[in-house]
Amino acid sequence: MMKQLNDSLWGRGIILIFWTIFFCAIITGVSMGVSSVFAGDVDAGKKVFRKCNVCHTLEEGGKKKIGPNLFGIMGRQSGTFEGFKYSKAMKTAAVTWNVDTLTQYLSNPKAFIPGNKMAFPGIKKPEQIENVITYIIEKSK
Ligand code: HEC
Repeated sequence: MMKQLNDSLWGRGIILIFWTIFFCAIITGVSMGVSSVFAGDVDAGKKVFRKCNVCHTLEEGGKKKIGPNLFGIMGRQSGTFEGFKYSKAMKTAAVTWNVDTLTQYLSNPKAFIPGNKMAFPGIKKPEQIENVITYIIEKSK
């Protein structure tokens, strides 16, 4: 009798532990999934932005250089920075810049908007794109 009770308590204990681990795993998985939606590294992104610096300013009210100012680019429609002479391709593309479109554009500018005049080959490493976008978002706050 006593032994049986002990056994079933053991059994329950193990099941409880199992479920606890299982739920923790799910919760960790979900929260990682949510945060990885956008969690690039701002400092690393700043370094990547050096590639863009030659042609783009990022501060509010910044001047156009070879390319348009990028302050607040997220949510903006392509080809709409006042006073910049865009290519026809960029204007007619009428893309709304967000994480998704910018990721595609930066990985291969010429493929995403054929005929646009940004003389930039694109960034190969996905994490560099993620980081530079995080930096752009951060600097636009
Ligand atoms: C050699 C110069 C050059 C470099 C380097 C460059 N760009 Fe550009 N960029 C341009 C030009 C020029 C345009 C306008 C393209 C057009 O009108 O077709 C542009 C357009 C853009 C646009 C669209 C702007 C808008 O208002 O719709 C984004 C976003 C952008 N660049 C981001 C970047 C980022 C991020 C980097 C660095 C990873 C970068 N660019 C590097 C020259 C450059």
